[in-house]
Amino acid sequence: MIGLPTETVYGLAGDGLNPAALARIFEVKQRPLFDPLILHLPDAEAAFHLAQRVPDLAQRLAERFWPGPLTLVLPKKEMVPDLATSGLPNVALRVPVHPVAQELLRAWGGPLAAPSANRFGRISPTDAEAVRSELGDAVPLILDGGPCAVGLESTVLDLSGERPVLLRAGGVPVEKLEEIAGPIARSAPVEENPQAPGQLKHHYAPRKPLHLVHNPSEIPSKPDAGWLAFGPASEAFPGVVENLSPGCDLREAALNFFRALRALDEDSRVSVLYVLPLPAHGLGLAMNERLERAAS
Ligand code: TXA
Ligand code: MG
Repeated sequence: MIGLPTETVYGLAGDGLNPAALARIFEVKQRPLFDPLILHLPDAEAAFHLAQRVPDLAQRLAERFWPGPLTLVLPKKEMVPDLATSGLPNVALRVPVHPVAQELLRAWGGPLAAPSANRFGRISPTDAEAVRSELGDAVPLILDGGPCAVGLESTVLDLSGERPVLLRAGGVPVEKLEEIAGPIARSAPVEENPQAPGQLKHHYAPRKPLHLVHNPSEIPSKPDAGWLAFGPASEAFPGVVENLSPGCDLREAALNFFRALRALDEDSRVSVLYVLPLPAHGLGLAMNERLERAAS
């Protein structure tokens, strides 16, 4: 089991076909067994080899977005261990583009299961240092592939049913998928939908309280307030500012997102965090989804 850089976030990677390795991943992450893992492969051919059936849409999306930050959920073949899918009949497949991940996957020759390398429910790591601070000595080896270029987890799209369903907004904006797939349904909240086990309400959480506010006037002018800002920030603010993107670039904001959240969480001057929703399109939607859950 190792810390693995990908373009989205760092993963905690182990042999995707070995139940003992999978069990160890759940244990180190303190992740509930009902939350299935993504299997990573070097290319579409290797990925689809693990699927019982591959709809035409999956082929077309793979051609356009793999390698890259998209995960496809498809009916699994028998060979995929139940532990990887938490007993579900479907498996989540992803082909990362990060050169270190690519090289390791090719050398390894099989699937690597890799959830984000954070303890369950916490902030995802986007550099090797963050993996170390999340998991400590529980991970014997962390491959340092530099800071993640995307910074948000992959988009998870369920193609196992008749119509595609978005299970998690992420690195590929859903609008881009819709250019190929047509309108994509959003999954219902987890209470009503056991098919989307990762959609738990409380997730990505800092240790300090995080308030998602809808007006800057709701952010108190206090030195112990931490502001996760986007766009030109007020210079009069007496607290600590982490600016996701002073120039309002959503891509830049995404790649700073978890790092900035973690920085405020670890800053001893800060006792409470504030953030306004990001523009509700593209990667902004993916960040808002995470903020709502981090704040809940
Ligand atoms: O970008 C990423 O996807 C990163 C990097 C390391 O590749 N991995 C990642 O894994 O975010 P994780 O375990 O933190 O999130 C996987 C998500 C969860 O929400 C999980 O519930 C969902 O994918 N998922 C996995 N298998 C599934 C399945 N068979 N059916 C439905 N959802 C599934
Ligand atoms: Mg995760």
